[in-house]
Amino acid sequence: MDCTVKMGDADKLRSGCVVVSISAPRRLSPAADRLDKASRGQLRELLKQGDIDTGCGKTTLIHCPRGRIQASRILVVGCGKEKKLSPQAFDKLATAAAGILQSSGTTDALSFLTEIEVRERDLGWKCRQIVLASHNVGYRYDELKSDVKAPKRPLRKLSLASATRDDAGAMRQGVDTGTAIANGMDLARTLGNRPGNLCTPSDLAAQAKALKKTHTKLKVQILDEKDMQQLGMGALLSVSRGSRQPARLIVMQYQGADKQQKPVVLVGKGVTFDSGGISIKPGAAMDEMKFDMCGAASVFGTLSAVAELKLPVNLVGIVPATENLPDGEATKPGDVVTSMSGQTIEVLNTDAEGRLILCDALTYADRFNPDVVIDIATLTGACVVALGKHATGLLGNDQTLVDELLAAGQESGDRTWQLPLWDEYDAQLSSNFADMANIGGRDAGTITAACFLSRFTKDYNWAHLDIAGVAWKSGPQKGATGRPVPLLTQFLMARANHDAS
Ligand code: BES
Ligand code: MN
Ligand code: ZN
Repeated sequence: MDCTVKMGDADKLRSGCVVVSISAPRRLSPAADRLDKASRGQLRELLKQGDIDTGCGKTTLIHCPRGRIQASRILVVGCGKEKKLSPQAFDKLATAAAGILQSSGTTDALSFLTEIEVRERDLGWKCRQIVLASHNVGYRYDELKSDVKAPKRPLRKLSLASATRDDAGAMRQGVDTGTAIANGMDLARTLGNRPGNLCTPSDLAAQAKALKKTHTKLKVQILDEKDMQQLGMGALLSVSRGSRQPARLIVMQYQGADKQQKPVVLVGKGVTFDSGGISIKPGAAMDEMKFDMCGAASVFGTLSAVAELKLPVNLVGIVPATENLPDGEATKPGDVVTSMSGQTIEVLNTDAEGRLILCDALTYADRFNPDVVIDIATLTGACVVALGKHATGLLGNDQTLVDELLAAGQESGDRTWQLPLWDEYDAQLSSNFADMANIGGRDAGTITAACFLSRFTKDYNWAHLDIAGVAWKSGPQKGATGRPVPLLTQFLMARANHDAS
């Protein structure tokens, strides 16, 4: 879908559908008021008749409006009673509007939802969120369906509108940001949705090379198992042992700033299928463990967004990619492996494999002389229990970095919530047979997983994002979400702004 900016009045701009807002009980936005006047009071009449629901996120589609209106339809979106909306309410309403536009039969639309006042958010932000909502609603994963039923008349062009000429610059910037993030999310979603047999570690490596073709500022390097052996990545290799698919360590470098500037390093868990290994998982919903590479997918998506926006930052993406399967060669509970850092690990549960591949990738990250390192992983079921499907779990060894990520989550709506990383929890990882065990017992599973990782990140500022709850949806809407690409892109945009000023 193509998104643009248009300046002009709601009644005078030609379009298939013009989108305006009305607050409860009967407060018309400036654009709605113009449409009402140009249609000899049609909107106020419908309001009076009770035909327009002004509840927050409620929509009313009016066909063939009367009078001198250049649009073939009017979509009225309710804003509820509050004078200024919360950012979450705005997202909800933008999504509702996008859903109706998608199925309304119009191929182009003109949105004045930019007029809505949102608490602590500016015009550029509103444009970005409207673009994101439209992309998200329009996303389909149909590359494996033989009989693709494309919507008969899908929305092809969305114009964000304003009557004020001065708004154009901020709006265009919001649209560009939204488009880049949406494209990054699309990539992350598609990689996540792709089944395990078609998205192996080698396929992810090929994907990195494909990304390099579209973005010239990207360098890609692929390490194979021999390279990993040489580097001493015994923890990572202990996971891939049980699989016929060889592991890959994918390294992507984007240089958008001066060479001297220390990079942000993103490390994404890329388990392309997690059966649990010898500590095999129960069968129910095991298919969803194809999503266990969504951390990796978010690294791809964020690199894509950052490159598209040409952000003046240096960014490194590292993806340890492997399957976790049982086999005669597979690592067994009780086995002790030696990580690249030299620390030994007793593998008490082969299903706690994410931390095993991440710890070697985190040790490897140090050679890029990072400013900060952030890992992104569908790491623990416990995180879903703690925070559900709404927030990403956030832990780290540097509160400034954690605060930046909390703020980026608020701003983007792709929210995170901090959990403590105290020494008391770390003690749960003690082992009688090695430097540490790879599990810390039943209690506080998300925290002990992060404690494990923190033993490999002592040399730099580091944060961990547990995206087990947010990376995909289950049930009838089963599919990857593209999170946390908005969070990470926002984080990097804020840094780019800060560094520039
Ligand atoms: N990929 C899973 C975590 C997961 C499970 C995410 C379910 C989303 C939904 C991870 O590799 C795993 O299996 N973790 C174990 C750790 C345990 C053995 C300490 C878990 O969470 O059960
Ligand atoms: Mn597992
Ligand atoms: Zn896993």
